[in-house]
Amino acid sequence: MKKTIEEHADRFSSIAADYDESQDSEEYRACASLVVEHAAPTAEDVVLDLGTGTGAIALALAPKAKRVVGRDISEGMLERAREKAEAEGITNVEFGEGRFRDPNYDGEVDVVVSNFAMHHLSDEEKREAIAVIADLDPDRFVLGDVMFFGEPDPEEPFYSPEVDDPATVGELADALTDEGFVLTAVERVHDQVGVLVAERFGDAGDRISVEE
Ligand SMILES: C[S@@+](CC[C@H](N)C(=O)[O-])C[C@H]1O[C@@H](n2cnc3c(N)ncnc32)[C@H](O)[C@@H]1O
Repeated sequence: MKKTIEEHADRFSSIAADYDESQDSEEYRACASLVVEHAAPTAEDVVLDLGTGTGAIALALAPKAKRVVGRDISEGMLERAREKAEAEGITNVEFGEGRFRDPNYDGEVDVVVSNFAMHHLSDEEKREAIAVIADLDPDRFVLGDVMFFGEPDPEEPFYSPEVDDPATVGELADALTDEGFVLTAVERVHDQVGVLVAERFGDAGDRISVEE
């Protein structure tokens, strides 16, 4: 992580009021839509949104899910998310403090989502976060984020080396499969933005037949 948790939290709290209006790029919208589409919760599913920010993904999923839990390190972003939930009359969502590596939630989870947030962690920290997510035992983890499909290029949008630390798609895929996930979809939105869908099928050996 190139900044401390507190520095990231303060930075996002200071821009919380204007955050939604500032996220106007076509790629951000496409990435968020794909995360919502792939999350596809049923009315029985509990969803955990890590790095929920002002709740863009959490609030979009709440009408489809049984319950949505949003976690973030920035109280300013969380406060804005709560205001939006109240304004939209959405009551099956709960926003609170929590981090990727300590989500501050130990209830049942069916779907974990995260959009445009995990790239603040170093690659080692991302691996630790993915292990924590795997321990929550969701059926599906949908990760939309800044990630490199080709060579990192700070001149391209979505990536500032001073604050961001995106991984390559290959590094993320390895970290997910090492934790027992099967990568079922890779969506390239931009050379530096994508969505990965990682699923767990219980005993994967039941599903994979190897011809000898
Ligand atoms: C660019 S915003 C994305 C917010 C939202 N997911 C969206 O799609 O609009 C990144 C968010 O990640 C949060 N964040 C950064 N590091 C975090 C961490 N270690 N754990 C949880 N949230 C974190 C920030 O506070 C911020 O709200």
